[in-house]
Amino acid sequence: MTKGQTTSLATGASSPETPNAPRLTAPALRALKGRRKIAALTAYDAPTAALLDAAGVDLLLVGDSIEMVVYGAPDTLGATLDRMVAHAKAVSGAAKRALVVGDLPYLTYHTTPEEAVRNAARFVVEGGCRAVKLEGGVQRLPMIRAILSAEIPVMGHLGLTPQSVNALGGFKVQGRRATEARRLLDEAKKLVDAGIFALVLECVPADVAARITEAIPVPTIGIGAGAGCDGQILVFHDLVGLTVPGARTPRFVRRYADVGEIVRKAAADYVADVRSGSFPSEAESFASDPVDPADAAPVVLYAAGVQRR
Ligand code: KIV
Repeated sequence: MTKGQTTSLATGASSPETPNAPRLTAPALRALKGRRKIAALTAYDAPTAALLDAAGVDLLLVGDSIEMVVYGAPDTLGATLDRMVAHAKAVSGAAKRALVVGDLPYLTYHTTPEEAVRNAARFVVEGGCRAVKLEGGVQRLPMIRAILSAEIPVMGHLGLTPQSVNALGGFKVQGRRATEARRLLDEAKKLVDAGIFALVLECVPADVAARITEAIPVPTIGIGAGAGCDGQILVFHDLVGLTVPGARTPRFVRRYADVGEIVRKAAADYVADVRSGSFPSEAESFASDPVDPADAAPVVLYAAGVQRR
């Protein structure tokens, strides 16, 4: 460990002041349960990943939410593995410490365990991820076991699973009724028994998420699931307000910046400067050389019998 570094080797955790800390692994992230809260965000590109990593974010999820917040789709169902893997490569190349997790898109792990392994492995081999996430409960157990047997750590995802939006009838809070809450707890335990290292709980009542958190030995990472979870995750674009004007913000989002307004104003100022002719200035332009060096110093190659100016 270098001088001044405060990294815990047991957990792999470090502070933003220790940018050279070792990368967090899935086991190290799992070991954070009960020690400190986990801060996770989505990331889809290299510069954003580098900034979030330097800020101390523990886990960067290359989420299929990219389909909505970057590609403008109404849901996540159109996300393709090729595209997700390309974005994963950008993120994992830029993140020095955070655990980068690839989010398996719809229909890449729903058919057979073999197909699930092949697709999950692309995130590792081509995308540089150290783990994958997939949505769903008991129906996914064979795929989770198969991916784990290929030595790829798996993060689960229960509650509102956006890839099930059509089956669920919309983006709705899950687990409000006692029977649903019991089913969520039961599924969480089964995913843990299968070997997941962490569990995303999305849009689950806070008391239900807290009960699940207490009942399982792996960290729960909540999004719209209250403060009782072991960690939190938000979609980066929601966090910084990088959304189109008038877009609806989910109630569980806390907005830490208004980047959308900053971008809009910067672009409007640019348009005005171009139209008025004040951009570019002289300092933002290049000048030609007053004397061409070729004119000033002719080179004569007598030996070769060639004369060149
Ligand atoms: O795709 C995504 O961004 C996610 C998070 C909301 C957990 O799955």
